[in-house]
Amino acid sequence: MCLAVGLSDNSVHCAAYRLCGRGALLTIVIETVAETASTNADLKALCLKDGVPEGFWLRAEIQTGGIGRRGRKWESPKGNLYCSTAVDIRPADPAPSSLSFVAGLAVYSAIRGCLPDVPMLLKWPNDVLVSDAKICGILLERVKDQVVVGIGVNVAVAPEVEGRIVNSLAAEGATIDAAGFLEQLAREFETYVAIWREDGLAEILKQWQNLAHPVGMAITTSDDGGEKITGEFAGLQADGALRLRKTDGTLIEIHAGDISIG
Ligand code: BTN
Repeated sequence: MCLAVGLSDNSVHCAAYRLCGRGALLTIVIETVAETASTNADLKALCLKDGVPEGFWLRAEIQTGGIGRRGRKWESPKGNLYCSTAVDIRPADPAPSSLSFVAGLAVYSAIRGCLPDVPMLLKWPNDVLVSDAKICGILLERVKDQVVVGIGVNVAVAPEVEGRIVNSLAAEGATIDAAGFLEQLAREFETYVAIWREDGLAEILKQWQNLAHPVGMAITTSDDGGEKITGEFAGLQADGALRLRKTDGTLIEIHAGDISIG
């Protein structure tokens, strides 16, 4: 049974690392279970019960009911990374939804660490593209005064996602496994959470924009009725909303949804 949370009898491995980074000294605890329906669902249940300490990560080798954004399923075969952590929402913190930029930057940096030369791009709001293809999924769910951040990364295989070109770290030549990748990711995540808290969202958005599709790039999104809107990326608002300049010159703000680029 894991020391930090005592999650389950199902644990196959539990490891703790002390991190001395930008924030206060933080202990990262990674608990791995062989199989669960969804690490986000498990962590949400724990948050509801007693809360989950920051720095705790739950990883499953397989998910049988992985949850994606907008009610989609997240295919979760063995070999890829499925993990969730919780972030406390403190009174002075930026808006909780902006943690999606924090998570995107952390995944980007962890991938960059094992694939130094591949073309990579962040795509609003929280996609990471490797060689122009989706390689991860990030799902934020609020529970009381915590946000559960769930991250799936295609480490070994690239399961099909309808309408998307997908990729995996292995297909790009990386030899790291899911457990090793999470050790890097957890460190990167804590670093970016500290920047988010101490330097603020503006600094996170600046770093995100430096690694993302450039202003002026052609983008497409859909309105509530499913109608396509095309235009060009016109930067981010201070709260992280996307600005799209339509072909007729009008500027619209998008607070939630997906875009396609190019
Ligand atoms: C997306 O649709 O892009 C987000 C997918 C998020 C998947 C991860 S895998 C770990 C965590 N547990 C879940 O059930 N979902 C998230």
